[in-house]
Amino acid sequence: MNKIYMARWIKPDFEAGEAACEFIRNFHAAKPVKRAVLTVSALGVYAARVNGEKVSYVLAPGWTSYRRRVQYQEYDVTHLMGENNSISITAAPGWRMRYAALKGEGCADWNTDELSSTEYAVIAALEVTYTDGTGDTLLTDGDWSARETQWRACNIYNGDVYDASYDTEDKTHSVKVLSHTRSILVPQEGEIICEHERLKPTEVIHTPKGETVLDFGQNMTGYVELSLSVPAGEKIVIDHAEVLDREGNFYTENLRSAEERIVFVGDGNRHLWKPEFTFYGFRYIRLTEWHGEVNPDDFTAVVVHSDIERTGDFECSDARINQLYHNIIWGQKSNFLDVPTDCPQRDERLGWTGDAQVFARCAAYNFNVDRFFHKWLSDMTLDQRHTGAIPHVIPNIGWASPSAGWADACVIIPWQMYLLYGDRELLRRQYVTIKRWIDYQYEMGDDYIRSGRHYGDWLAHDADVSQCNGATSKWYLGYAYRAYTTKLFVKISKILGAEDSELADYETKIEETKKRIYTDYYENSMLNIKPLTQTGLVIALYFGLCPDGTEAAHAEKLVQMIHENDDRLTTGFLGTPYLLHVLTDYGYPELAYTLLFQDKMPSWLFSVDHGATTMWEHWDGVRDDGTMWSESMNSFNHYAYGAVGDWLYGAAAGIDTDEEHPGFEHVIFRPVVTDRLTYLKASVKTKYGTVASEWKHVNGKTEYTFTVPAGISATAYLNGEAYELAGGTHTLTV
Ligand code: BGC
Repeated sequence: MNKIYMARWIKPDFEAGEAACEFIRNFHAAKPVKRAVLTVSALGVYAARVNGEKVSYVLAPGWTSYRRRVQYQEYDVTHLMGENNSISITAAPGWRMRYAALKGEGCADWNTDELSSTEYAVIAALEVTYTDGTGDTLLTDGDWSARETQWRACNIYNGDVYDASYDTEDKTHSVKVLSHTRSILVPQEGEIICEHERLKPTEVIHTPKGETVLDFGQNMTGYVELSLSVPAGEKIVIDHAEVLDREGNFYTENLRSAEERIVFVGDGNRHLWKPEFTFYGFRYIRLTEWHGEVNPDDFTAVVVHSDIERTGDFECSDARINQLYHNIIWGQKSNFLDVPTDCPQRDERLGWTGDAQVFARCAAYNFNVDRFFHKWLSDMTLDQRHTGAIPHVIPNIGWASPSAGWADACVIIPWQMYLLYGDRELLRRQYVTIKRWIDYQYEMGDDYIRSGRHYGDWLAHDADVSQCNGATSKWYLGYAYRAYTTKLFVKISKILGAEDSELADYETKIEETKKRIYTDYYENSMLNIKPLTQTGLVIALYFGLCPDGTEAAHAEKLVQMIHENDDRLTTGFLGTPYLLHVLTDYGYPELAYTLLFQDKMPSWLFSVDHGATTMWEHWDGVRDDGTMWSESMNSFNHYAYGAVGDWLYGAAAGIDTDEEHPGFEHVIFRPVVTDRLTYLKASVKTKYGTVASEWKHVNGKTEYTFTVPAGISATAYLNGEAYELAGGTHTLTV
């Protein structure tokens, strides 16, 4: 057992507030060291150093349902050990800040008698083995001390205040030992967070307001590394923003209460400095207060995200679609920061379940996110309410009532991980959570569906957008998701070995739910979902809810509605991910491409044409006249609509999974070709090797090239014919 379980949680014995504080202890190695391992965790975030060398990951220990568990990290520090060693762990509140302002149901979860939500604590163990086989252990306890630091404030939303002139010499305090449980400690389960790309400014802009703004050319999550020399006692101030406004001025309204500001007070020396306990969502920085020349070389934007491996690639002959794909990838990079978040910039940055649910399949093509979701789904299980309800955000920060399409993440995400990675173990592990959620929906019945706090087809354009919920009936969506997730539950149960007889009850429930939909939401004929919306039809078709034999007519109606809307979509968070799939599956692939190529709002290319480098939250984040959709809820880095990427891989390039042989154990190729492109190609790295698909037009025909990893097989469906392919590269001209 790791010795950290024998250490004690310690916090500073003074009011540290948002300032970071350094917990320190010296360690004398009595003999030559063979191996030394430092294990650390925090309620908050920490940076650990041995003899001045930083050993910890970015923003460790990550964000979990703190009340129930917190990860610890182990670092091999053998190479850093000498005879006399200083062990230092600097900590700050990190994500705990988020709980400070909240008062909702479940908030009691975050405060203990000993630790309020703004405070932080650390725990650590250094285990040393000497060359003679004996050993020593250093544990956090009352003998450690807590030194004030030059990090005067670290707030993940508001930013950093760093005072290089702050004298910490005589600012060492004792620590307070907490009785807080150690049983919440678990080894690192998720991917670690790392630094990735380093971007230089592409332009120094002098805005109409006379501000100096640096553009890094890419919206991102991370921080700026600065090389700077500020006179003693003087300060510089840097602000962060995602966009410029219509006039070309720095625009921060959409951050809401998040200040995203760096204040650095100088000591007259040159520093290479970067934030360590916070992160920022930005593309631009404003030198709000600055000293001396502005040299772009002194600024580097450092991109941070979970260390997920890139597995997918996509390219086609159209530059704008390629830019859309780029924006999808960067939307994911920006929001896969230990927890799948809605956005990385405003005062939210939460693990919204609905957003993660709609994007999970695309995410799993782009990067290997199996381990990432394993960790987050563990927290979902821990945060599931005793009733079976799944909160809106995970880790839960106190909003417990579930919403259709959001709570269903607990079924849909494990299912997608099963399809993309063949992860049967995850299904098994999440099974109880899934079943409790399914049972909750029936136990609560109409109480859940009719009185739940549903978000509906969030941000759809078929209703007054200021209402945000779209026109599709929230209750209809409630029944539809109930039927769909019960269907998935039945499939999952069978995969895990349940007998048909054990599931008969659930099959009946699916039929009853469908009947309920027909009675309540079909006006007169079986073809009119009321209110009739694109999303209503898409969901009915994708979830298999149409009365038997009416599917084609439903699809025709959808097509008609799209045409009547000038070949534009009106769908929101719930309808959009399935829209192009439904059109393709029901015989309208060209219309799917029409929507993909549409550039009038609402459309994917609208944001591309307006210079987006990540996915926008709203179809019209910035309008044609340059005004903003709204000042309050307008993120330019929200991955939800990026779910269309799964259509690019799975339909346009046609690399699909086979439910019977998940994880690409058998590959399906079913590309959708169009004359609007001269070529299109995609590849996905699977556990069997790389699967690739490419098509191009050659002399009036289409030439397909498929790569199948050795040892597995594939079936390509081309113009109604099935071609069986073995491992290797195959070129077919049809
Ligand atoms: C978030 C969303 C989320 C929604 C709930 C918003 O504030 O940013 O992405 O899903 O609330 O409807």
